[in-house]
This record gives sequence, C-alpha cells and structure tokens, in this order.
Amino acid sequence: MISAEKIPNNVDLSGNKRLQRALEHWQPKYIQWWRDMGPQGFQDYHKVYVRTAVSVDPEGWAHFEYVKLPEYRWGIFLADPVHDRRIGFGDFFGQPVWQEVPGEFRNQLRRLIVTQGDTEPASVEQQRWLGHRCPSLYDLRNLFQVNVEEGRHLWAMVYLLHSYFGRDGRDEAEELLDRQSGNRDKPRILQAFNEPIDNWLDFFMFTMFTDRDGKSQLMSLSESSLDPLSRTTRFMLTEEAHHMFVGETGIARILERTCQLMRQAGFSEDVRRLGGIDMPTIQKHLNQWFSLSLDLHGGEVSSNAASYFANGLKGRAKEDTFDDHLVRDSYYSMEFFENGGPVRKDVLMRNAMNEVLRDWYVGDCAAGVVRWNRILEQHGISDRLRLPDRKFNRQIGMYAGFHFDPNGVPLSAEEFERRRHEWLPAEADREYLLSIMAAPIYEPGKFANYIAPPRRGINQQPIDFEYVRTEQ
Ligand SMILES: [Fe+2]
Ligand SMILES: [Fe+2]
Repeated sequence: MISAEKIPNNVDLSGNKRLQRALEHWQPKYIQWWRDMGPQGFQDYHKVYVRTAVSVDPEGWAHFEYVKLPEYRWGIFLADPVHDRRIGFGDFFGQPVWQEVPGEFRNQLRRLIVTQGDTEPASVEQQRWLGHRCPSLYDLRNLFQVNVEEGRHLWAMVYLLHSYFGRDGRDEAEELLDRQSGNRDKPRILQAFNEPIDNWLDFFMFTMFTDRDGKSQLMSLSESSLDPLSRTTRFMLTEEAHHMFVGETGIARILERTCQLMRQAGFSEDVRRLGGIDMPTIQKHLNQWFSLSLDLHGGEVSSNAASYFANGLKGRAKEDTFDDHLVRDSYYSMEFFENGGPVRKDVLMRNAMNEVLRDWYVGDCAAGVVRWNRILEQHGISDRLRLPDRKFNRQIGMYAGFHFDPNGVPLSAEEFERRRHEWLPAEADREYLLSIMAAPIYEPGKFANYIAPPRRGINQQPIDFEYVRTEQ
C-alpha cells in the first residue's frame, strides 16, 4: 500500500529520515517548477478527474478522483520486488541483482538516470500552453493526466538520484528543475524535448512516437541489474501505456473526422476548407515526430551502448525473449551509407544495441500505423499513412549530415531544403492548425470540428462527463 505521507510512497521513506528530509527539501522547488512551467492557467481554479496511485497493484494504481493540479499525489512508487531476481544479460549474467550502485558503474548509471529524468519535466514544459487550445474537456483531462504522470516520473528518477548518488545526485536533482525545454542557455538534454508543441496534432504525434521512445527506454531499463531502477521503471511503464493511448487514439479520431469531412465533400474538396486536417499535414507531422524520436535511440554503432549491455545496466526490450543473453560473438548486419550509397557491414552485436532497440521501436510504431490505416480503409479512402525511412531527417547517428527523402533516396542538401516542406511541417501548416484550435472547447460533450469524439469516456464515465471542473 502507498502511504499517505507528505510524499506518498511505497519505499518506507519514513524509515530513512535523511532521505525523507532531502526529498522534502526538494518538494517545494518541484511545486514551484510545476506552477511556473506546468499547465498555464489551470493551477488554481480547476479540478481535474485524474488517475492517482493508491497502491502499485492493478486495482490500486487506477484510482480516479478530482484534484487540483498542484495537489496531485506525486510520489515514489516502485513495482513489487521479484523474488531472487537475477541479472538477465551481459557479463554478470545469472548473478543476483544489485540493491546498491557499484562504484565502478556509478557514472554510467547516473548518466542513464539523468537523461531519462530530464525528458519528464521537459515534456510538461513543451505542452504547457495546450490547455488553451483544447478540442474538448475529455482531451484536456488526458493532457493533464499525461502531464502529472510525467511529473511523477521525474519524482521516480529524483528518488533514485537522492537515494543512490549522494551529493552528486542531489545536484543533478536540482539541475533537472533548472534546465528548460527550448531554453537557449540551459536547454533540455535531448533535442526532441526542446521542440515546441503548440498544437494538438503535435501533441498527439508526440505522445504516439516520443512517449513510445519512452516506452522502449523504460523497457530496456526495466531489465537493469540495478534492482531499484528496474522496479521504478517497471511501474512507470504502466503509466506510460496511457500516454501512447492518448496519442494513438487522438490521431485515430482526427483521421476519422478527416474521412467524414472528405466523404461529405464528395472527396473532391480540400479538407481544410471544411475546417479539418488534411492527410498531407498529418503525414508531415508524423514524419517530424517519428524522425525526432528515432534520434532519441542514439547512434547506430555505440561503445556506450555496448558497455551498458556488458555491465547489465541497460538491456534490450523483452530480454527474456532472446536466446543468447551474453551476446559475446554475434553480429548485427547494418546498413552504412558510404560514398553516396548503402553498404552492409557486420557490427558486433553489443555495439549495435541502440539499433536493436530502434528495430523494436520501429516495429511497435509500424503496428500503430497499420491500425490508423484501417480507419482510412473503412471509409473507402485510398490515402495511407506511412513511416518514413529511418534515414530521413536524422540529426543523430550515421545518417546525420546526409539528406534523404522519406523513401530513403539520397538527395543533395539543396534539393532537401527545396522540398523540405513537402515532407515536414511548414510555417503555413502551423498557422493553419493554430487557426482551427484558436477557440478552446470547454463544454462537456462538445468536440472541435477537426476531431471525432472518442468511442468511450475515461474510467467508464460518459463522453459528456465534466472531466475538468472550474471552481471560482
Ligand atoms: Fe514519462
Ligand atoms: Fe509519457
């Protein structure tokens, strides 16, 4: 059960006074950050119907109630320990997992935790203006649910930093509140988390693709030999699933509406003239967030990834589905780009671990796109969405510095620039999206013209439920 202390937790925080004091010291700074950088205009007079955890078992973590956002029960929740858990991969395979951080891996683990932790508040910052442009109360509630849980994920990482990294950890926890998404002097660590998200098409693509990168990273960290990291990330994954649901169904509902509008107009009219979102605009935003999220998986050939794997710090998604957990002398056949063309070369599998995880990620994304395309098919519309080639628009890894079209065909820099806005959102697209989102919809059961209502409400509530209440 989760205690109802100042900092709700299931880690017996009151049994460790030093840690409790340190976190209680960090807590007001966190709340200040949330007020300054969290959802703007929805802090004091609104109550939101959100899920809060009262325990980590399936019944307990899906408890719903109305809360004011700054009063959300942010806390420290670890999945239950697995009895006699053993290290599942790498050079320490089969040994008992670690309950403390071994000195020799301290820096690597800190870096992994800080990088993960930095993304959580970053996404809250990126999304902080969206409430003023929401397509419905249902969507507004989903936005805030995602936001408070990302805030809680920051708590999860800060707990690890404070517990296992001493002074350095405390400093890192401060800096996590100090960096700011898109800030020129103190940006967030990873580029996708510095990109603005000022419209709901961006938001849904972000939760579909960038939160799904969160899923791949959390899955690989949940395999970690550092047991507290594994247990923390395992619980985070249960929350993450809802974020991807928000993204996938958000785009599905836009597609549904786009199809309806196209049919109404006899398939001839430009959907924009009917206030909908046209297929090319949807595809461009998909291209943008998919390529940014591919970059989050890091370089294709990486000695860091090899070392994380060797030391058991970060594994593969679903490590137990692989036969070989040592991966000492197997190879990954990788496509390099040399002298203007593709060349296949074998790379030691351990050095290709980022690519292995990216493969898993691409497959998971592709399955989502197939589900989206079914909607188009059902409406008898011949357009299809597709994932761009993984070489397209990359800023990290071996394809960075080259240019490719979404089919993976190499282009000159000039040609890419000339055609950029055929494939990636342009200022005019952004202006159009802001124009149809200018008036937020706060009336229960009403939806903006560009998006269909969901099939069902949250927690079996009706669709016209008052998911966000205003209190004067
Ligand atoms: Fe998260
Ligand atoms: Fe998330």
